[in-house]
Amino acid sequence: MRLLVFLVATVLAGGQSTFPATPLGLDAYMPIPDHNPLTVEKVALGRELFFDTRLSRDQSVACASCHDAKQAFTDRRSVSKGVFGRHGTRNAPTLVNRGYGASQFWDGRSPSLEQQVLKPIQDPNEMDMTLADVTARVGLSERTLAEALASYVRTIRSGNSRIDQHLSRNAELSPEEKSGMRIFRLKGNCVTCHVGPNFSDEKFHNTGIAWRGGNLADEGRFALSHREQDRGAFRTPTLREVARTGPYMHDGSIATLEEVIEHYDKGGVPNPQLDPEIRPLRLTPQEKRDLLAFLRALSGEVTEGWESKERIEP
Ligand code: HEC
Ligand code: HEC
Repeated sequence: MRLLVFLVATVLAGGQSTFPATPLGLDAYMPIPDHNPLTVEKVALGRELFFDTRLSRDQSVACASCHDAKQAFTDRRSVSKGVFGRHGTRNAPTLVNRGYGASQFWDGRSPSLEQQVLKPIQDPNEMDMTLADVTARVGLSERTLAEALASYVRTIRSGNSRIDQHLSRNAELSPEEKSGMRIFRLKGNCVTCHVGPNFSDEKFHNTGIAWRGGNLADEGRFALSHREQDRGAFRTPTLREVARTGPYMHDGSIATLEEVIEHYDKGGVPNPQLDPEIRPLRLTPQEKRDLLAFLRALSGEVTEGWESKERIEP
């Protein structure tokens, strides 16, 4: 019986015996802590837990409620809705390619996925459990929970977009997309922060989003670093799947990509800690349309989970 299951899994995985091939455009190397090697069992358990509403106080909310695979692992709300209709103050980011991330959360307050995945369970505005409650309810240790959920999140990836295809095989882009790519790199200065295979420098910048009537509505990275230049700074988000992950920014305050482009075109929102790389761009209407076409071409294939038996090769 066990052999049969294994054979079926192998066939389903297309005969592959390793972690599914790296999607086009991403790094083959993903940093994985030595104490939590990726295994098919952990990924499968993590996937089950990701959809399990028992992780929330009133059993109404799962990770997947706010990170919906069909919405590129977002919830399409400005700010997320947790148990008992409670709201937090931040937008649920996409989970694609988080395994490559240097830190987790908009302010980078979790240094690892193993630490991060236990936070929403305990956040009163999200799942509102204690670790004692949740371990008793699902019958797993805190460590098993954390390692399984982190392992599953590492398998959520997006690549193979039209841009990746263009860069690797010179597949044709439309004239708008091509021009948009130039603007992204040159006149728009976007690539200064949205850089690398995941279109993020994994650093923290103030583009003025949190600045409201002379005050910061959210101090962002400053709450951790206490460095002046980090006031109102948030981690550069990935732009993969960005056409599907709105509303945008750490507070979900910008509804559309057109408005995001306007935000950058006018030089962000001036405030004392505005990043020096943010300045008025003076894009023409055609240039804005081209940049939009480029951003849309960053949607690719989102994959998650794992069927086979081996561990990922570092
Ligand atoms: C009620 C909605 C909600 C639920 C439930 C939820 N999340 Fe989130 N998630 C968010 C929000 C909002 C953020 C951003 C919070 C912040 O940065 O302060 C986030 C951030 C994250 C991040 C960091 C992403 C990044 O770009 O840094 C990961 C990883 C993550 N969640 C995984 C999970 C897992 C695993 C679960 C289940 C155990 C879960 N989430 C449950 C709303 C939710
Ligand atoms: C100085 C660094 C920097 C530059 C330059 C920059 N960005 Fe950003 N970008 C960020 C940061 C940081 C955020 C998150 C800001 C926040 O939520 O407060 C962000 C957010 C975004 C988002 C929202 C993504 C989401 O999931 O919410 C989009 C889209 C985006 N940027 C596109 C662009 C484009 C297009 C350009 C060039 C015109 C650009 N960025 C230039 C740092 C930068």
